Amino acid sequence: MREAQDRLADGVLWIGALDPERRWFDFLPLEHGTTYNSYLVRGSTRTALVDTVHPSFAAPFLERLARLCPAGPDFVVVNHTEPDHAGALAGVLQAYPQAQVVCSRAGAKFLENLLHAGLRPRVVDETARLDLGGRHLRFFITPLLHWPDTMMAYLEEDAILFTCDAFANHFSPSSLWESELPSLEESSRFYYRAIMRPYRDHVQKALARLEGLPLRVIAPSHGPILDRDPAQHLAWYRTWSTPADTAGKAAVVYASAYGNTARLAEAAAAALTAAGIQVRLWDAAREDPSGAADLVDGVQGLLVGSPTIMGDVAHPIWEFLSQLARVPRRGKLAGVFGSYGWSGEAAGILEERLRGLGFRLVVPALRVPLAPASQDLEHIGELAGNFARELETTQEEGPR
Ligand code: FEO
Repeated sequence: MREAQDRLADGVLWIGALDPERRWFDFLPLEHGTTYNSYLVRGSTRTALVDTVHPSFAAPFLERLARLCPAGPDFVVVNHTEPDHAGALAGVLQAYPQAQVVCSRAGAKFLENLLHAGLRPRVVDETARLDLGGRHLRFFITPLLHWPDTMMAYLEEDAILFTCDAFANHFSPSSLWESELPSLEESSRFYYRAIMRPYRDHVQKALARLEGLPLRVIAPSHGPILDRDPAQHLAWYRTWSTPADTAGKAAVVYASAYGNTARLAEAAAAALTAAGIQVRLWDAAREDPSGAADLVDGVQGLLVGSPTIMGDVAHPIWEFLSQLARVPRRGKLAGVFGSYGWSGEAAGILEERLRGLGFRLVVPALRVPLAPASQDLEHIGELAGNFARELETTQEEGPR
């Protein structure tokens, strides 16, 4: 990439790395790789490096830094300590021991645990203002966008906001500039859902703090630099971080080898519907597991059914549950049921897992030996009816 294309303003340069071949990142499948954006900001007296790159790109990154800034940076702003951004920090500090690390309080602790180097970073809060000579960096402390350490740096005179993971995209673009690319809405939404959605309360708090901030460019640490309409990205995050109306909505999720747990699931869904609940019946062995997070994000509660297979929960249900780390679920309601042959451990295992994920188990589990008899179908109907009443009560009381 030519350096002229890498200039955000006079003296403000992108010096990151493109990683178009990466297909798996932070346990997230990627189709078109990603980038690790690092920025060099020169004032008349001092220079700051904002974030670094993934450790696998440290060597070419350090070479480029040495060419562009032979004396090295005075400050290394570590917006976030995850190694895709701080992975070349040790190399930078080894080459330029005079450089002072600038980070949040949580960042200082994480750096100690990552580098074990006895660093003495300059811990900043939102009153700090770093003077580079004619240019000043301010900071927004934005925990959980994406780790508790995360902050943003704002270059006042140029209205450039360095946001690290927030407002980023996971692909390696043909141009660094959003204004030269098709709309990023779908890609940004994918990224938001995968990385930011679990922390949407914190996204909303961060957006409130950025309200009214003059913005010419948003410079995130993955994907294109956002120069087309920065406010649009704030607006998208505002929309996406607004929780869906889940009142009176539930899902019945199940897997079934011989149709016995399926019959229980269908009876549960029918009873919920009869109680006025809007229900989605989800066969985990047939549905795409990647839809699990959206499903759960849109409901107030979940009934989960699994047969016991070799003493365990059926695999499609484990796959379903494995998607739920990426969605806020604390306080949602749950109940479990399932058919079993001789031991019936699945219900207890499921309850434990759902509780661990933050669900509130509000009805006793129903375990049915092999094929449900008519009284078993009555029992699952009663379970679903009780679950519907819990949903209504929670709705009246508000989330706990
Ligand atoms: Fe791109 Fe949370 O690191």
